[in-house]
Amino acid sequence: MKILVVYYSMYGHTLEMAKAVAAGAESVRGAEVVLRRAEEFEKVDKIIDGNEFAGKIRDQQKDIPVCSLDDLREADAVIFGSPTRYGNMTAQLKQLIDSTADLWMNGEMEGKPAGCFTSTASMHGGQETTLLTMMVPLIHLGMIIVGVPYSVEGMIHTEARGGTPYGPTTVAGPTGELQPTPEDIVIAKALGKRVAETAKKLRG
Ligand SMILES: Cc1cc2nc3c(=O)[nH]c(=O)nc-3n(C[C@H](O)[C@H](O)[C@H](O)COP(=O)(O)O)c2cc1C
Repeated sequence: MKILVVYYSMYGHTLEMAKAVAAGAESVRGAEVVLRRAEEFEKVDKIIDGNEFAGKIRDQQKDIPVCSLDDLREADAVIFGSPTRYGNMTAQLKQLIDSTADLWMNGEMEGKPAGCFTSTASMHGGQETTLLTMMVPLIHLGMIIVGVPYSVEGMIHTEARGGTPYGPTTVAGPTGELQPTPEDIVIAKALGKRVAETAKKLRG
């Protein structure tokens, strides 16, 4: 049973969340986790050449393969991660989703569980809008959306950190100076586990 975790990350926060989601999925017996990244735009790659920090994060991801349509095809479940851009997912991840017309026409993603996670600079920078809008194309593809229930530890909170019923989140800070909190990581693992468990139940 293949659980695909596909994400985009420029400054590393979504990458850390992706690793936690993957660890959660891996904890389910029979799950084989496939970690993939959304392809970078050439134009952005050139900008990253001149940014030491983003360059370091890009180096950290060089051994993670770019997600292909076959990765999506072969997956029994998919968990999508993207930083927030103006309250929405990044164009890099959207580009991958927009390349799935053949999969859509052949119904190849139908019935597969899906989850979403994100990172924002600020507490109210659009975590929920990003997660909810990420789900829209997945519903068109016929995927079954899985969220995070309130029974997961740390879900009811009032402090500035991530964790929503629509999916795991983290607050990166205006200059990316923050890192996912231990609670963010617990919630990210819980989504990975829940999606993998759902896929397992659906396979019967
Ligand atoms: C063009 C652009 C738009 C952004 N829009 C938002 C936003 O709407 N809300 C927010 O909190 N952060 C916003 N950010 C900050 C990113 O969400 C932040 O850099 C990201 O969560 C870090 O994730 P990463 O380390 O995985 O790249 C924006 C950043 C850029 C470059």
